[in-house]
Amino acid sequence: MRIKVFTDKKTRAKCKIFQMLKTHAGKKHLSFHTPGHKSGAWDITELSFSDNLASPHGCIAEAERDIAELLGAKKSFILTDGSTSGVLSILYVAKLSGVKKVAVCVHSHKSVFNGCAALGLTPVVFTAREANFCPAKTEPKDFLNALENADALFLTSPDYYGNIPDLKAIRALCDREKKLLLVDGAHGGHLHFDKTLYAGAYADLWVDGVHKSLPALTQGAVVSARTEETAEALLSAVGIFRTTSPSYPVMASVEYAVKYPRNHALETAVKEYADATERVFIKEDYTKLCAIFGKHAAEAEKALEADGIFAEFCDGNTIMFYLSPATDLKAFSLLKKRLDAALKKYPYESVKRIPAPLVLFREGETERIETEKAIGRICAENCGIFPPCTPLIFVGEEVTAEKIALLKKANNVFGVYENKIRVFKEEKRE
Ligand SMILES: Cc1ncc(COP(=O)(O)O)c(C=O)c1O
Repeated sequence: MRIKVFTDKKTRAKCKIFQMLKTHAGKKHLSFHTPGHKSGAWDITELSFSDNLASPHGCIAEAERDIAELLGAKKSFILTDGSTSGVLSILYVAKLSGVKKVAVCVHSHKSVFNGCAALGLTPVVFTAREANFCPAKTEPKDFLNALENADALFLTSPDYYGNIPDLKAIRALCDREKKLLLVDGAHGGHLHFDKTLYAGAYADLWVDGVHKSLPALTQGAVVSARTEETAEALLSAVGIFRTTSPSYPVMASVEYAVKYPRNHALETAVKEYADATERVFIKEDYTKLCAIFGKHAAEAEKALEADGIFAEFCDGNTIMFYLSPATDLKAFSLLKKRLDAALKKYPYESVKRIPAPLVLFREGETERIETEKAIGRICAENCGIFPPCTPLIFVGEEVTAEKIALLKKANNVFGVYENKIRVFKEEKRE
């Protein structure tokens, strides 16, 4: 097995964790420690020379310091358990700071809703508008009411479609209202190059899912805090939500990814292509290239796959292609060629959009039943398409045939297990 990750020599040379692993990998090493594969190199555990993510004092401490400096944070913590553990850590710090209610967008990732439920925080959910058949950029008017009834604002920036809200204005608003600004930047690790778009330039606490938009191994992420006080609380939080067995290759890849250079040539090429091509667009973030196919989206996705082009997701209307600074220009040219052909072959035919609901949480006895039988019942566990992992059917919402059909068409889903979803035991909402 060969995974092409640490390919850029100049970047590698700046990476403390990678250098530690490389230096040691050439030495005699018989492994009588975990992990059980016993290869004794690269994928190691906390040893005398390898430092310790939970209490770093060597190469990991240096890497985290470098990362914090690049991201403009008081302190940054490497995560090997995805942005999910960063979202949970941020919510925990909010709770420690006295937050009880958090304003969150209906399109937030499931980890935000799960984190609120697990920590006893009340999500004050605001709906999202649509533009170009996708969720639109969040604006203060969308969340002002929710924020009035909450102690903190939790935004996703960028979202899965590349929308980036006006973070500067929102920061000013949160300052005025004395509310914490928390940002889920699971899709925005690459934006530290441009501080006008980067969550870390505005948020009190934020997570960067570097494995999504930078060349890190899957699950590599970073969570950061702006002030000494929040950094101190965040240290306790990551101590709860991080694994005690962090992967060294993942840690090394996080440092490598954050230090990876910007790719101006690709950014320009993507912008030019999106500008020139009908039904293809990018929002503020160039790494999320969207193509609208409407009714034929699933067919077009399959045709592209047959040609070797695998997109990030298809939401039943739009196909999203995820790029990163490590996307090769040649690969991008091939994508353009194949996508142009697919756009020609599958003309746009509109689909009926299903608006996001106003969320109705509720409690009661639940059961898991087959999706077909769940139609007309009240959903008891959020479920949706995976990715983008934003709930399609919320707890408290009536399950409709339309949404079940969408779930059935999707390649991957969450909240559905063996074709069953969880519903409340009573038959119908009164
Ligand atoms: C907006 C958003 N936040 C958080 C996450 C969780 O990230 P991870 O899968 O790295 O835990 C995701 C994952 O898709 C996401 O899309």
